[in-house]
Amino acid sequence: METAVIVHGGAGAWKMENGRLPEAEAACQQAALAGQGVLVAGGSALQAVEVAVCILEDCPYLDAGRGSFLNARGEVEMDAIIMDGRTLELGAVAAVQRVLHPISLARHIMTDIEHSFLVGSGAEAFADLIGFPRCQITDLLVDEELARYLSLQEDPEYLTRTIFVEPGAMGTVGAAARDQQGNLAAATSTGGTRKKLPGRVGDSPLVGSGAYADNWTAAVSATGYGEALMKLVISKRVCDFVASGLPAMAACETAIRLLAERVNGHGGLVAVDTHGQIGYAFNTDAMPYAYALGRQPIVGGH
Ligand code: GLY
Repeated sequence: METAVIVHGGAGAWKMENGRLPEAEAACQQAALAGQGVLVAGGSALQAVEVAVCILEDCPYLDAGRGSFLNARGEVEMDAIIMDGRTLELGAVAAVQRVLHPISLARHIMTDIEHSFLVGSGAEAFADLIGFPRCQITDLLVDEELARYLSLQEDPEYLTRTIFVEPGAMGTVGAAARDQQGNLAAATSTGGTRKKLPGRVGDSPLVGSGAYADNWTAAVSATGYGEALMKLVISKRVCDFVASGLPAMAACETAIRLLAERVNGHGGLVAVDTHGQIGYAFNTDAMPYAYALGRQPIVGGH
């Protein structure tokens, strides 16, 4: 069966700032290449999306893992989800601190214990219990984000949705894939929104909102202003559109139109459907993405 993997580096107002779009696109291409490598070697879709998202979490210009945005208290609190379309099993973390790869911690929650979703200090205690690598905040913090945090302290009017429509690049990351067995998987990871209140959780770790994967329909990862995306349970909605007969591309486009019309939201989606067709759509000024079908060369864009 033909394999497929698609990744994104976050929908946002990339072009309005002296943004890092070229670097974000390069990271997406590297992540798609790594995912493709897993798939053509016979690896699982689940492994492919985890490997791809780990690369994106390492990119200092994207809002996930290293490079995550800082909350109002100057901390890095991250959210992530991974989902297996074969079994509908999922693992998720929210408001977790001092881990370089929240997506891998989420996968351990899915595979190692009977729970699906751990938050904050509970997720960190689980990480320590299984010997999952911890890091310092300085390993996650990049100079550009520290400078933005300091300047935002002086702006009491700042709204967390600003980055999706006005200057300020965005970079939640995610991936969707289909493997040689036809199994689907999806993964999403984020540092959330700048200057969010401590404890704020967006759409990303919420099953059906930040991601969804079901072998019967599609695997989907979402990005954008979480407070709007979660109202629509947008990733599951893409799967429902596929179930009604739309290919992945039309399903993503339809969901993004709905996001704008129903809740005045801004964001983006990537998807792979059960036939291995890819889809992507966004209504911000850019969303770096890259995909690979079978052994074909990587295609990237924004
Ligand atoms: N979509 C990322 C967030 O709102 O946290």
